[in-house]
Amino acid sequence: MSEYVLEMQGIVKRYPGVLAVNGGRLELRPNEVHCLVGENGAGKSTMMKILAGAISMDEGSIAISGEPVAIQSPHHAQQLGVSMIYQEFNLCAHMSVAENVFLGREPRIPRTPLVDWRRLYRETQAIFDRMGVQIDVRKPVSACSVAQQQMVEIAKALSVNARIIVMDEPSATLTDHELEALFALIRDLRAEGIGIIYISHRLDEIFALGDRVTVMRDGEYVITQPVSEVTREDLIRHMVGRELTSEYPKEEFARGPERLRVEGLTRKGAFRDVSFSLHEGEIVGLTGLVGAGRTEVARAIFGADRIDGGQILLEGAPVLVRSPQDAIRQGIGLLTEDRKSQGLILPMSVRENTTLANLQEVVRGIFVSRSRERAVTDSYIRELQIRTPSTEQTAQNLSGGNQQKVVLAKWLFTQSRVLIFDEPTRGVDVGAKVEIYRLMNDLVRKGVAVLMISSELPEVLGMCDRILVMHEGRIAGELSRAEATQEGVMRLATGSAVAAA
Ligand SMILES: Nc1ncnc2c1ncn2[C@@H]1O[C@H](COP(=O)(O)OP(=O)(O)OP(=O)(O)O)[C@@H](O)[C@H]1O
Ligand SMILES: [Mg+2]
Repeated sequence: MSEYVLEMQGIVKRYPGVLAVNGGRLELRPNEVHCLVGENGAGKSTMMKILAGAISMDEGSIAISGEPVAIQSPHHAQQLGVSMIYQEFNLCAHMSVAENVFLGREPRIPRTPLVDWRRLYRETQAIFDRMGVQIDVRKPVSACSVAQQQMVEIAKALSVNARIIVMDEPSATLTDHELEALFALIRDLRAEGIGIIYISHRLDEIFALGDRVTVMRDGEYVITQPVSEVTREDLIRHMVGRELTSEYPKEEFARGPERLRVEGLTRKGAFRDVSFSLHEGEIVGLTGLVGAGRTEVARAIFGADRIDGGQILLEGAPVLVRSPQDAIRQGIGLLTEDRKSQGLILPMSVRENTTLANLQEVVRGIFVSRSRERAVTDSYIRELQIRTPSTEQTAQNLSGGNQQKVVLAKWLFTQSRVLIFDEPTRGVDVGAKVEIYRLMNDLVRKGVAVLMISSELPEVLGMCDRILVMHEGRIAGELSRAEATQEGVMRLATGSAVAAA
């Protein structure tokens, strides 16, 4: 009997113009949480898609519990005990939570083709109970928050009896509370003898959760080590192949005139009486727990949702923002947190996505000029270090983090004067994060006012001049860069500052 529940050796995967994985290797023990880390495009998801039978490999071998296997299909992988939670969700939006969890495996009323709904709901409920997650299992997935959709994906993986569970950035969208529940669950699964492969760009999680860690770089295996024997600096060095001087390259600029102000902004059921201003030369953070109303505020400013009260002022003058087109015309841009449904058009190329929101800039006469589009896109590919074989690659084929960079390129190209970033570095690797922060510095230097919505406190504390904290639809407080601490922000975010006062 092998000591490993899974051995992957010499894995190679080629795509036209891309060597996605070149000598990938991973050995997983039962009873371990094995973290897989590496920069965007390093080949992590590709390795896992091969394991899950979603794609085939060109070379290499896989053994499960010591037995060589040739994984034929996702269904076959599932039979072999492999369960995978994809980085980008795979849910049917119009179906209920329960239907999604048991999709294709719904319990039937005996001797009939009819779905046994009572049992379906009961069994789904039991899985969520085990996960410690409260959710209405009958509601459609389209009505779920991003965080809830993530939990549905995890429940789906748990509903089949897996020996190996792969989680590809499961935490990217979870609140601290949900994350704690997830970690507790992962530890339970580990105690039951399940091997867990955990992919994350948040190094803190690797130290909190992982037993061993494997690093990939440029499609290649770099090293596997016990987590207790590596430091954060070691990991970063293995991932990026060099030392990083600073994770938060904050630059301070003189605060200029007011760009955007919102007064008493209210949308029933989402947020109330939200007032703040945004000046040239500053990055303002908007933080709080998931569900506090941050994204809703951003959508309202961007004209994506109607407001029930209050007003928006640009350069001191009240403006009506009736639609996102309106917002873009007036110089307001929003980088959404949900890049798959709102930020990117996946079947279109990197070039088309980049120029989409500002086509007039690349028009010659009445036609869009391909060569200008290409030149613009090429410059962003260089500036943001987007890993793609060319401007013509479809966005779908980029790694998750590189898709995020394309969304960023699109908004940089609109030349907005107010840019709202909603979780801009989610799923982005440490090196690329620093690049995004540097870009924010550049934007601010050019006079753009930046509002950054983020759940990652170190990032908010590291990059923002002022921090607004939301709690249950209201601004619970504002902290300056100098006075803000992790504890201070959390007190406001959880509403305990009010109780103490
Ligand atoms: N279907 C595809 N066609 C062409 N290239 C692809 C395809 N899928 C992945 N790639 C490329 O393979 C490389 C590895 O991608 P992969 O998704 O495995 O990276 P990753 O390590 O998961 O990155 P991230 O942290 O950004 O999710 C990338 O350069 C990506 O663009
Ligand atoms: Mg990935």
